[in-house]
Amino acid sequence: MKTFEIGSQDFLLDGQPFRILSGAIHYFRVHPDLWADRIHKARLMGLNTIETYVPWNEHCPHPGTYVDEGQLDLGRFLDLVAAEGMQAIVRPGPFICAEWDNGGLPAWLFSDPSVGVRTSEPGYLAAVDGFFHAVLPAVVGRQVTRGGPVILLQIENEYGAYGKDEAYLQHLVDLVKREGVDVPLFTCDQPFGSMIEDGSLPELHKTGTFGSRAAERLAFLRDHQPTGPLMCAEFWNGWFDNWGTHHHTTDAAASAAELDTLLSAGASVNVYMFHGGTNFGFTNGANDKGIYEPTITSYDYDAPLTEDGYPTDKYFAFREVIAKHFPVPAEVPARRQEAPAGTVTVTSAAALLDSLDLLGEAVRVDGPAPTTEDAGHYRGFTVYTTHLSQAGVLTVAEVRDRAQFFLDGRPVGVLSRELGERAIALPSGGRLEVLVEDQGRVNYGQRIGEFKGLMAPVKLDGVEIVEWAIRPLDFGDLAALREAGSPASGEGGLAGPSVSFADFEAEGPGDRYLRLDGWTKGNVFVNGFNLGRYWSRGPQKTLYVPGPLLRRGTNELAILELHGSTTRAVQFVPGPDLGPDEK
Ligand code: GLA
Repeated sequence: MKTFEIGSQDFLLDGQPFRILSGAIHYFRVHPDLWADRIHKARLMGLNTIETYVPWNEHCPHPGTYVDEGQLDLGRFLDLVAAEGMQAIVRPGPFICAEWDNGGLPAWLFSDPSVGVRTSEPGYLAAVDGFFHAVLPAVVGRQVTRGGPVILLQIENEYGAYGKDEAYLQHLVDLVKREGVDVPLFTCDQPFGSMIEDGSLPELHKTGTFGSRAAERLAFLRDHQPTGPLMCAEFWNGWFDNWGTHHHTTDAAASAAELDTLLSAGASVNVYMFHGGTNFGFTNGANDKGIYEPTITSYDYDAPLTEDGYPTDKYFAFREVIAKHFPVPAEVPARRQEAPAGTVTVTSAAALLDSLDLLGEAVRVDGPAPTTEDAGHYRGFTVYTTHLSQAGVLTVAEVRDRAQFFLDGRPVGVLSRELGERAIALPSGGRLEVLVEDQGRVNYGQRIGEFKGLMAPVKLDGVEIVEWAIRPLDFGDLAALREAGSPASGEGGLAGPSVSFADFEAEGPGDRYLRLDGWTKGNVFVNGFNLGRYWSRGPQKTLYVPGPLLRRGTNELAILELHGSTTRAVQFVPGPDLGPDEK
């Protein structure tokens, strides 16, 4: 058994000074068969530690559930870190930010409006107690003190940017100790104003989150953490992208110079991200500082290791910097090879609005428009239906987040939260169906924990509509939909919301990159796995298909297209295209 402590100047592993050279990999953003590869490549860059968040809403997707299998097997992930001879840092939140849906907080928790968000409100604390009690056993038994890799555990996340509730932080500290955590606890905050103090407690080690001006930031941090090792707990060497912006990149040499400054100053570091991975399915978060900006599917982050696990120029620049200060393994990871290319054409399609019975049950609501949470639905798509006796202007208090309107099955327009739209002119009465997309919950700031769907009141010419049917859509099993599809043929594309299908052959597992030129917006599924959202507005042009999803022989592709396509073909291309950068 070992010890890990915070000394007067250094971290101490078994009493010896230990410089943390960590890289962030989120197990929940990487296919589990690829974890070992990514961890190994972190060690080859010269890192000695892997850091991960723990997303509460993935582990507990519905009240009373706890999932820790496959992609959510945190214990196995930590065992792989140990097998690579590395240490681990765990950041279980309960709030994680991370461009992750709702910053990791379960949406179901806030269905009861009396439950507080990131405060010492009792209902919230009771739920946190339950989550930590379920998840921490995977960590506690894997601390260095018990022969495992875990050396540090973080309390909350950048709490100083959100609140100032000391009782809440104290509750978390007492809780993790009660659950058996005996490695040192720390907090991370942006080195500005009073955030470092507001986000911490005197007994917790304070660290900073920043990506530039390292010397200045470390000096600020030193003022607020007068003793012990300095640590940049999130060294932002890249950044995430939102739909409709360019692809963010940072200069490898400039990032490497910042890393050098950190290491020369004797600081410890966690490279955020070392390997970003993917926001599969409907897991992406969003920002909203007055304008709602959902995060794209790729979480490549312009990190040293790409979304698909290959070293970049930044990887080699970082490796060189680390080698100036510490020994680095001689082995280097290979660069990406071209993936198999080819065209796949969908051969059948089911019209979405004609197939709703196959995707979920409708519930009648006599009253104001319900939220999707009222229907026990926390992600993806929901259909609202009502009958209108006349034409008029329909208004919504707020659309969360994107609503497509259909009168008697015909598309009549879209309202987008991002564009601040709240009114649509309807040319006639009839059966109104509204296909509402939750584009990802806000993960930073005061709008975490908010409801999704059509926010009441929804009115027609000023009169509230109080008769609804609401139907959550579940894309977990597409077999019945495929069965119900009709053959799609001819040269044209597909009209209206649809789910279309194709088979394609593969020689076995192996990464692919799927390009959807000519398609508008939706999600793609490979062998039933939801790869994430695509959108013609970009910047992202290709979706990453992790190799282990493919099998030898016939594989199945399904495309949920919300609007229409110019073509029935999609392309497998040799490599990723995350869109234009600023240069
Ligand atoms: C903050 C958060 C992280 C992440 C980064 C931006 O530092 O702590 O979870 O959101 O910003 O990528």
